Amino acid sequence: LRAALRRGGQGGLLVSSLTNVRWLCGFTGSAGSLLVTAREAVFFTDFRYRIQAQREVAGARVVEYPGRPLEAVAAEVKRARVRRLGIEAEHLTVAAHADLRAAAGGVELDPLKGVVEQARAVKDPTEVAAVRRALAASHRAFLATSRRLAGRRERDVADALGAAMRREGAEGEAFPSIIASGPRAALPHAVPTERRIRGGDLVIMDFGARRDGYCSDLTRTLLPGRGTAERRRIYRIVLEAQRAALASVRPGIPASAVDEAARRVIEQAGFGKEFGHGTGHGVGLEVHEKPSISHRSGEVLQPGMVFTVEPGIYVKDFGGVRIEDMVLVCQTGSEVLSRHVPKLTAC
Ligand code: GLY
Ligand code: MN
Ligand code: MN
Repeated sequence: LRAALRRGGQGGLLVSSLTNVRWLCGFTGSAGSLLVTAREAVFFTDFRYRIQAQREVAGARVVEYPGRPLEAVAAEVKRARVRRLGIEAEHLTVAAHADLRAAAGGVELDPLKGVVEQARAVKDPTEVAAVRRALAASHRAFLATSRRLAGRRERDVADALGAAMRREGAEGEAFPSIIASGPRAALPHAVPTERRIRGGDLVIMDFGARRDGYCSDLTRTLLPGRGTAERRRIYRIVLEAQRAALASVRPGIPASAVDEAARRVIEQAGFGKEFGHGTGHGVGLEVHEKPSISHRSGEVLQPGMVFTVEPGIYVKDFGGVRIEDMVLVCQTGSEVLSRHVPKLTAC
């Protein structure tokens, strides 16, 4: 981060995103910010987090502000003689920006996008281990809740999945589970309803657990009962697209090439327009983070990146299929972290 700031000519960065704060200094509470300068790091919070900050914060001096947080920040910025301060354009509110400008008169505020997020895209082994634990909890929960779906309500399956993930050691869900059956499977981000799953439905189950702050994100599409030939055909196309994309993952290639590998298969089968989202996204402390795996992505895959590969086909009034796995970029190739989570491989 400091190298990035040096390159950008900023004397420091005010980190406002709590996720970025957590990643940099370990604080897991809900109010705090971090000032990183060339020589030091200062963590700001209030009385409510005095004890927690003493326990959690590493590598930064803790300042407890009695009054307005941004006045405390401004005082430290001036003390450190920072003339140009990076701010997180995607996280600092317009109101806080105005307060900071008023309190730190004379300091140039430089809006930056995604500096910490860029660094977070490459995981260290401790982070990868946490992702594996999150995956293990969601994997076991899936095994416990995905049998005999016909006759159950989408909402009940989602509740059972959430409870099972917590039982398996998750702090909670990484995001609200998606259970979408029959025609509802055509909605990529469907909310579970009272609908009862029927034999022959395509059923999308998209779920993730959070452990030690890190997320998993998995999708399996099931076909309780055999379903029609057309449903099975669409499933096979998505499966083939996903295999092609997963097989393409290795360091040094553009992220857009992974998207292309999946998209080519789906386009050739005539469903290009029915695959309207990107192929994947990074996963870590947040369920959606860098790198973006889409045709617009300018990123190059690096060892340590963890992301999803999740092509899908969605057809109005018919249903849909999405298959999502998580992959780790290694020194030479890749490892599909969720390879043991069963999926239909022949249908
Ligand atoms: N659960 C949302 C996604 O897969 O990105
Ligand atoms: Mn995803
Ligand atoms: Mn998902």
